[in-house]
Amino acid sequence: MKQLTLALAGSLLSLSAGLASAADLEAGRAAWERLNCASCHGTDAKTSIDPSYPILAGQHASYLEVALRSYQRGQAGAPPSSNVRTNAIMGAFAAQMSADDIENIAAWLASLPSDLGTRRP
Ligand code: HEC
Repeated sequence: MKQLTLALAGSLLSLSAGLASAADLEAGRAAWERLNCASCHGTDAKTSIDPSYPILAGQHASYLEVALRSYQRGQAGAPPSSNVRTNAIMGAFAAQMSADDIENIAAWLASLPSDLGTRRP
């Protein structure tokens, strides 16, 4: 019984590891192009057309996902208590993104070279 439990725990672990790495970097790059994000943030996601626009390359994927979902909620008119970001530009862009677009673009941006912050080895 103990062995069966261990085997089950092992397969659950590998299953969740598989799910966690579901983001598709190539699909993220393609969605970035399809949705025209580079027109403001730059092709390399760090040379934007205006210095006040945030650098995205090298940012943590989870931060980017939260930001994009917050713009979506803001655009959909959710109350401020539900962690919204209201921005006319990004609200309109985030509204066009699927959940997969967000996950893949965030993973792709996080993988880009950047001097945005110190990276752990
Ligand atoms: C028309 C110009 C423009 C385009 C096109 C654009 N953005 Fe933005 N983006 C901005 C601006 C301006 C901000 C800062 C908004 C704010 O103050 O909240 C921003 C903010 C962001 C943020 C939040 C970053 C942070 O550090 O909090 C993310 C993520 C982001 N954009 C991703 C994207 C993605 C992905 C696309 C394509 C779907 C895109 N942007 C298209 C102008 C643009």
